[in-house]
Amino acid sequence: MKKVLTLAALLVAIAGCSGQQASRNNEPVNVQSLAGNTPITEVRPADALPSYPTRGKAIERNYIEQPPLIPHKDDYSITMSKNGCMNCHSWDKAERMKATPVAKSHTLDAKGTLNGQNYFCTQCHVAQAENKSELVENTFSTN
Ligand code: HEC
Ligand code: HEC
Repeated sequence: MKKVLTLAALLVAIAGCSGQQASRNNEPVNVQSLAGNTPITEVRPADALPSYPTRGKAIERNYIEQPPLIPHKDDYSITMSKNGCMNCHSWDKAERMKATPVAKSHTLDAKGTLNGQNYFCTQCHVAQAENKSELVENTFSTN
């Protein structure tokens, strides 16, 4: 008897798992990759690359306390152990790299040790680029 009950419970569990696939009333899920509708076997032309403002020049700020915009590409890797932005913007490397050292507000001490709250640079700083492909809509206003 016990065996039969166990078997019944198992069957119910299996039926429960496959329930999702069995429901026929759901609309088909429309998943689209970043490559659009191009079949995977076709090679499509690459998207146009964005161009960044002249290297080495800061962009004018629009309001007080604005995190300055990044005038260069922003895909330097930021991991738990290494912050790619600090290769140029840390207090000890900035001068040699001709970059502005991170603001005092980002640091903990007189040596310029980075504050944990300012570790993920791209949370506040965004790159400014001339994009040749379409962007998402944005209605940000300072008013
Ligand atoms: C290869 C060196 C290098 C790396 C790596 C680098 N930067 Fe820069 N960055 C520069 C230089 C050079 C400038 C232009 C001079 C300036 O304004 O500081 C600049 C400018 C900036 C500015 C504008 C500063 C201002 O006062 O307007 C910001 C913000 C900035 N970078 C953030 C970042 C962030 C965030 C990262 C990582 C995603 C990063 N940078 C990685 C070299 C670098
Ligand atoms: C929480 C938001 C935030 C984060 C995270 C952040 N910043 Fe900033 N950053 C700001 C703001 C706001 C300013 C302008 C006000 C100021 O100087 O504190 C600024 C200023 C700067 C400046 C200009 C300093 C100057 O003297 O003009 C640089 C360079 C910079 N940040 C780089 C970085 C880098 C590199 C990182 C990552 C290691 C980073 N920031 C992380 C908000 C942030």
